[in-house]
Amino acid sequence: MMKALVLGDVHADISHIKFAQRKAKENHCEYIIQLGDFGYFPQTDWGQAFLKECSSLCIAGVPIFFIDGNHDDHWSLSQEGGIFKVREGIYHLQRGYSWLLGRRKCLALGGAYSIDRNSRVLGVSYWEEETIKYRDLELASRAEEVDFLFTHDCPLESPLEDYIPLFDCNHTISNRRCLDIAVSNANPRMVIHGHYHLRYSLEVPTQNGRSRSYTGLDCNKNRNSSWLVIEG
Ligand SMILES: [Fe+2]
Ligand SMILES: [Fe+2]
Repeated sequence: MMKALVLGDVHADISHIKFAQRKAKENHCEYIIQLGDFGYFPQTDWGQAFLKECSSLCIAGVPIFFIDGNHDDHWSLSQEGGIFKVREGIYHLQRGYSWLLGRRKCLALGGAYSIDRNSRVLGVSYWEEETIKYRDLELASRAEEVDFLFTHDCPLESPLEDYIPLFDCNHTISNRRCLDIAVSNANPRMVIHGHYHLRYSLEVPTQNGRSRSYTGLDCNKNRNSSWLVIEG
């Protein structure tokens, strides 16, 4: 049996990485899967400082594998559907990458739309590449059936609106619709996402008579609700 710690948005908060490493050690986790808005900004001094310190913590502790959110520098990331080492101990899980945690199949599919784009600057604080593209879905569909799907945004199938009102924005809805397509292709038993900075967990019935569990994790601002341990 293998365990991994799943962690919500970090927003380049190094104290949150320290917290997650502590929890990973206490719970005997082999590695951390981070759900996007990791804080990957290698073009800035503060981003470099974060990555440097984070790398030291991961070398001393366990590695971190992050998917991209909307608050990550997409121009410094590529999306080939694989896994990419950004620093020692820190890896980017590109959209559509699948792997095994013990005997359980996992699939990564990052990306979300920044609803506050008007107050952001292209290439500095938002990137066109932040949303899921057709090619990402095509890469993800190669995984076929999986146990765990890790996303930044939340599929529309999730009961998220039981907790917060729907973001009535066409771009958000179309990104979430892309995730619905990925869900119907991969038929995961569990979907875990970040982005909404909200902790919830609910099962929903699916068309094939099975149920699917949805879990949203909170962010660095609400540490105790920002993580969970999964077993493979
Ligand atoms: Fe976030
Ligand atoms: Fe986000």
